[in-house]
Amino acid sequence: MKIAVVGTGYVGLVTGTCLAETGNEVICVDINKEKVEKMRAGELPIYEPGLEQLFHRNIKQDRLHFTANLAEAIEEAKIIFLALPTPPGGDGAADLSYVLGAAADIAKIIKEYKVIVTKSTVPVGTADKVRAVMAKETSIEFAVVSNPEFLREGVAVEDFMKPDRVVVGTTDERARKLMSELYGPYVRQGNPVIFMDERSSELTKYAANSFLATKISFMNEIANMCELVGADVDMVRRGIGADARIGKRFLFAGIGYGGSCFPKDVQALAKSAEQNEYDFKILNAVMDVNEIQKKVLVQKVKKYFNNDLNGKHFALWGLAFKPETDDIREAPALYIIDELLQAGATITAHDPEAMPNIKALLGDKIKYVESAYEALPKADALLIVTEWSVFRNPDFDRLTRDLKSKVIFDGRNLYDLDKMIDLGFYYNSIGRKI
Ligand code: UGA
Repeated sequence: MKIAVVGTGYVGLVTGTCLAETGNEVICVDINKEKVEKMRAGELPIYEPGLEQLFHRNIKQDRLHFTANLAEAIEEAKIIFLALPTPPGGDGAADLSYVLGAAADIAKIIKEYKVIVTKSTVPVGTADKVRAVMAKETSIEFAVVSNPEFLREGVAVEDFMKPDRVVVGTTDERARKLMSELYGPYVRQGNPVIFMDERSSELTKYAANSFLATKISFMNEIANMCELVGADVDMVRRGIGADARIGKRFLFAGIGYGGSCFPKDVQALAKSAEQNEYDFKILNAVMDVNEIQKKVLVQKVKKYFNNDLNGKHFALWGLAFKPETDDIREAPALYIIDELLQAGATITAHDPEAMPNIKALLGDKIKYVESAYEALPKADALLIVTEWSVFRNPDFDRLTRDLKSKVIFDGRNLYDLDKMIDLGFYYNSIGRKI
């Protein structure tokens, strides 16, 4: 099938590449000509495990193309995906100007029936808005479909190629058939393509992310309780996760959820509730808890050093908001670095992928090193902020030798408590004994 993808950000590139992988002919369009040229030359502008191989393969086999010309991109495409940014506007609600602008431009060009798919996370009612904007510009028939993405950064290729489910919001029969045909190869193991109306589909996306964020905030509060009553959150997690109604996944306490999705989507759903004069109490609590949780690690550090961090030096492992990504948007590391620097401390940090992004933001406010161990010398403590696999089983002899003091604050509960006691470390993690 011929497909166009408008917008070559994270979602657009993963979608375009993975759609080409099952034999579709995909053309991705972006207004940034320089970026288009680079992608044509085989340069992938994002870091995502497994994507590069697929990207190169599909370019080589002539199924994945790039252009800065919208008319060229959509001329032959049956389905046009909109994967454009929807940043929070001034009032916290998503700014739809990119999506609606592109929809109007597309309407001016089309000459035959097309299916326009909103892939970006958009507020309920956006499909109607897209339809209205397009109807003003054309008398050609078209369908507007909502098809939210459920891609996790770091495992996005797997999530796209083998989705738990695909949600498609449309009441247009022709569009339903085309979408069903398109997604068939991805759900061969029997996972469902769930068809529904556009509004339910749009809300499904917000509900999914908000529910997951709720799970995290809930576990973070349980962790805080554990510390107060002398329980261990990892045991409690296992104890409740074994109940299939609760489920094992997404129950890890930590230093708050970050990234480009959860904070934005929870806020947007809360805003939408407010606009509909509904007091969504749980969501407001989820956000409040997350704000507090971001501060937990620094508070532990401050308490340990009697509130005096002036002149102290810290080694920091992990900057990305989670492993397997270079994304630092809403990363807990940003808050932690800011607080430590304000308190007069210095920092040497290491992250396997995110250092260029942090450097671009913070410059030489902190020191960067190419390996985790290089961060240790002269450090009064090690702070673990992102759970990269490479930090999970370090050489503790080396930590003992190189750290100035055997002190670790772990925001991700990477190490076994008994082992750390045996090794003689002061080890302060989340929701567990010290
Ligand atoms: C999230 C969703 O998981 C995807 O399904 C969704 O498609 C995506 O947002 C999106 O809307 O585009 P992502 O932001 O990539 O994906 O990251 P997650 O793996 O979900 O992690 C989000 C945050 O929750 C991270 O800060 C992570 O550290 C935190 N987290 C996750 C926990 O604190 N505990 C957990 O048990 C799991």
